[in-house]
Amino acid sequence: MYINEKLKPLWHGGDYNPDQWLDYPEVLQKDIELMKKSGCNAMSVGIFAWAKLEPEEGVFQFEWLDSIIDNLYENGIYTILATPSGAMPAWMAEKYPEVKRMAEDGIRSRFGNRHNNCYSSPVYREKVRIINTKLAERYSCHPGILMWHISNEYNVEDCHCPLCKENFRKWLAEKYGTIDNLNAKWWSGFWSHTYNSFSQIDPPGPHGEFSSNPLKLEWHRFKNHMLQDFLNWEVSVVKAVNNNIPVTANFMRFWEIDYAKLAQSVDFASWDNYPFWHSSENEHEVASGTALYHSLYNSCKKGKPFMMMESSPSATNWQPVSRLRRPGMHLLASLQAVAHGSDTVQYFQWRKSRGQSEQFHGAVVGHDNTDDTRVFRDVAKVGEELKNIGEVAGSVTKNEVAILFDYDSFWALRIAQAYRNKDEDKGFLDTLMKNYGALWQLNMGCDFVFEDDDFSDYKVIVCPMLFMLKKGVKEKIESFVSNGGTLLVTFASGVIDEYALSFFDEECYPLRKILGVKAEETDSLYDGQHNYINMFGGSYKCTKYCELAYLEGANVIGEYKEDFYAGMPALTENVYGKGKAYYLAADLELEGYIKLFKELFTGVISSDKVIDTAENVSVTMRFREDNTYVFVMNFNNSEEKVYLPFDYEILCGEFEENTLTPYAVVVLKKK
Ligand code: GLA
Ligand code: ZN
Repeated sequence: MYINEKLKPLWHGGDYNPDQWLDYPEVLQKDIELMKKSGCNAMSVGIFAWAKLEPEEGVFQFEWLDSIIDNLYENGIYTILATPSGAMPAWMAEKYPEVKRMAEDGIRSRFGNRHNNCYSSPVYREKVRIINTKLAERYSCHPGILMWHISNEYNVEDCHCPLCKENFRKWLAEKYGTIDNLNAKWWSGFWSHTYNSFSQIDPPGPHGEFSSNPLKLEWHRFKNHMLQDFLNWEVSVVKAVNNNIPVTANFMRFWEIDYAKLAQSVDFASWDNYPFWHSSENEHEVASGTALYHSLYNSCKKGKPFMMMESSPSATNWQPVSRLRRPGMHLLASLQAVAHGSDTVQYFQWRKSRGQSEQFHGAVVGHDNTDDTRVFRDVAKVGEELKNIGEVAGSVTKNEVAILFDYDSFWALRIAQAYRNKDEDKGFLDTLMKNYGALWQLNMGCDFVFEDDDFSDYKVIVCPMLFMLKKGVKEKIESFVSNGGTLLVTFASGVIDEYALSFFDEECYPLRKILGVKAEETDSLYDGQHNYINMFGGSYKCTKYCELAYLEGANVIGEYKEDFYAGMPALTENVYGKGKAYYLAADLELEGYIKLFKELFTGVISSDKVIDTAENVSVTMRFREDNTYVFVMNFNNSEEKVYLPFDYEILCGEFEENTLTPYAVVVLKKK
């Protein structure tokens, strides 16, 4: 499936802000010349252009945008058109204070920055409706328009204004029905927190309630709800004018938004990718971490390509250190997105602004305004290679392993006072990264599954720290295994329900039947403390979490080596229906996870999809009908050899004698 049939090859381009350059017509003309030279075919326009589109309330100026979009199109370049709600104009902030967010102490923020409107404000919604409608009426039938870029990087900051508080209470009342039900679900007898009415409930904050787990969780869910409601509103406005233009909203490397849910409101998932390349000698963490986000957002719209909507063509100025990309890295980083299912390589930004906070952020065209730069040549190279592999567009990934991930569960784990409070996230992300990182090192292509997905599309499902087990998910896991699936569940899983209540009495240990063990106690370790799991003939270090589990039908594959629980089960296997369920009691280091997954999953997943490579050499595949596209990527600063068990045709890159130069990528088509 293509993002838009109008432009079938892979898209290449980025954030283009001509609104900053309207006084420089020669620059706008030069942009076109340089876009063509760099093989760009899709530009995101108007992201923060509200003040240029509506300089005063009700006074609209579209002529400049007409000529930009026309000019691009006449030169073979398409437009991804943004709605401008990501930054309000000054006149609006001045005239309508309610559009700005309010802090917990009741102080409204002043005008400035961006991504700062109140999602409840009817005035803001109305202003957005007006400008979005005008944009849609004027441009949605233009042949050069590919897609709507709705707002920019929505976030979920707190707003404590009266409108948001009211909406929160309404939302709670709708969800819980009665205050008694809420009290029961929130275990409000604790510390005399029983409410008499919804009107008594305030959002959590430092001056008020900051210790109530359910309140904190529900407030976070509510903020997600408001954000999605706002996105739905924006989408409905542009779609009401013309339903034929696909929409997206650019996601971030961010765990506060339930992107799996948010993706249900858009046609394609997209995200902004800013890895910290070259921040350490071994690129494993950055390369596999970046792959993780690609896989996560690729999984938000299964069966469709996703979009890398932003990436820096050079240094990223807001990072602690603005490191340049080593030769080859730009192409490698760009094609890594495509390797995981993206049909676009887009940048922030096309042209460096001369002033303000992003004037030193990497851009395709620098302040010297020429194409005679290393960065421009790197970008042009990407443009050329994207053409060479253009037939990849519309193909999809088909992975057999998936990580079961639930945003609510992660938030609830973070909120809980338990385990290792010293880690803000209880170590969850580290464990998740190690699980994904091990699959990445083994080239076992991995998706994410969310609660509403069909689990039966996978052969293996891994559940790292699935702390919250929602109604229905346990049943899905059960039928996945009994129908022949392979499951691995780690420590700290199946502890609370969707209301953040602990499972009780007979419901306690809800996964014990599937796993064949009862995970009774969790020993959390201080930094520097560790144990070992003896498994597969070796001893593998474990840290942070060690659970004490008792067998209820499972076989032991690994045991603890030390402490008072030496000899107790640390890794078990249970045959359940036609499948197998493994339980891992302790948090391994990367090396241990690699060993574990290699032993357990080789033989379960199709061998022709798994290629053996050196460390940090990644192989991924995309499929369409009879075609298989293979991406081989070397994230090492050294030459590596890769042997492939099939014949191929080279679409891009040098692969003489099976050798990849440092930071090289090749794209092959299976014969
Ligand atoms: C984000 C934003 C862009 C820009 C870049 C800079 O992704 O969406 O507008 O600020 O960061 O890296
Ligand atoms: Zn508000």
